Amino acid sequence: MPRAFRPELAGVPESPLVLIATEAEATPGAIKLCYGESDMPTPEFICRAADEAARAGHTFYTHTAGTPALRDAIAAKVHALHGVELRRSEIACTIGASMAIYLAIRSFVGAGDNAVIVSPAYAIYANGVRMAGGEPRFAPLVRSGARFAFDLDAVKGAINARTRMIVVNSPSNPTGWMISRDEQRALIELAQEHDLVLLADEVYERLAYGTALAPSFATVADGYDGLIVVNSFSKTFNMTGWRLGWAQASERTARVMYAAAEFMTSNPNAMTQEAGIVALRDGDAYVAELRAHYAARRDQVRSALGAIRGLTLPQVDGAFYAFPAVAGLTDSATRAAELLRTANVAVAPGSAFGPGGEGHLRLCFAASEATMTEALARLTAVLS
Ligand SMILES: Cc1ncc(COP(=O)(O)O)c(C=O)c1O
Repeated sequence: MPRAFRPELAGVPESPLVLIATEAEATPGAIKLCYGESDMPTPEFICRAADEAARAGHTFYTHTAGTPALRDAIAAKVHALHGVELRRSEIACTIGASMAIYLAIRSFVGAGDNAVIVSPAYAIYANGVRMAGGEPRFAPLVRSGARFAFDLDAVKGAINARTRMIVVNSPSNPTGWMISRDEQRALIELAQEHDLVLLADEVYERLAYGTALAPSFATVADGYDGLIVVNSFSKTFNMTGWRLGWAQASERTARVMYAAAEFMTSNPNAMTQEAGIVALRDGDAYVAELRAHYAARRDQVRSALGAIRGLTLPQVDGAFYAFPAVAGLTDSATRAAELLRTANVAVAPGSAFGPGGEGHLRLCFAASEATMTEALARLTAVLS
């Protein structure tokens, strides 16, 4: 008899994104648009800061929640961007936003509980809830003309007596949808009414098109201590491999989260934290350039894929994904595998993003212009 795994972990499927990426890495010349990252490296000024930090002796453990200097730099940036005052003790730095998300879920959701996830959504939330022993429940966005739209009634309908948390990601991976401030207020009120934690994933907040900055739940929380905002250096500064993110939460919640992290990961790597301070301090021009670059790629994707019959492209207000609905598509995983074989382009199957995702494919357009031009030419040849 093989040893039994714990069902909370054994029930977590291997990520379809990792599966397709692994196949793409073994395929000569394949272009990977399946992951949520750019093919452009971290900018030089951030790399240099990490290098200098290592040489200057930032090679030791730090406080689990991050150095005071990094937490103060995050507080200063949140204030500059959103006008929200945070104390150092309300910030816990983590190994990517991923760890902040897991800690937030694990702090509040357990066996017999559930969390309501606005979907389609990155699979980290549903799987985090499963790993905590809870049940993910889904509140789908609805299609409204060319865009995805928020459905507060779907969230209300998914809440029951065992609900502990609502999870919302805006700007959204994979849909490109962005929540409005009024919708944020309504969700905060709903969370307050049911005494739920509201976990807001804002890792794409600075990659919003048209407005430059997406609205943050932190600006409408009005002191509600059930709000946890997570954010990251990954997408804003092309630092996916560095693994640095953070949570903003009440002091009580932040303490529970970092106390637990001490015995899982301990602190985020010390020189990365130093580089993070420099990214926040000196990175505004870089972020503006990156946003302009992605806006141009978004338009490039829209004009190439929008011309293909059978593909319907939702409007992308933020983040860096195109999420076309494909007429008649019922098995996006098989279609994505076919596209890798026929077009030599790896895209993510919509089914990887939970209910509402099937029937779609997701392309990450955060690549260089040359990469996108080649990938779109290949996809157009096969899909037309
Ligand atoms: C919505 C969302 N949240 C969190 C993450 C994870 O970010 P990090 O690299 O900071 O762990 C991703 C990465 O794709 C994401 O798309």
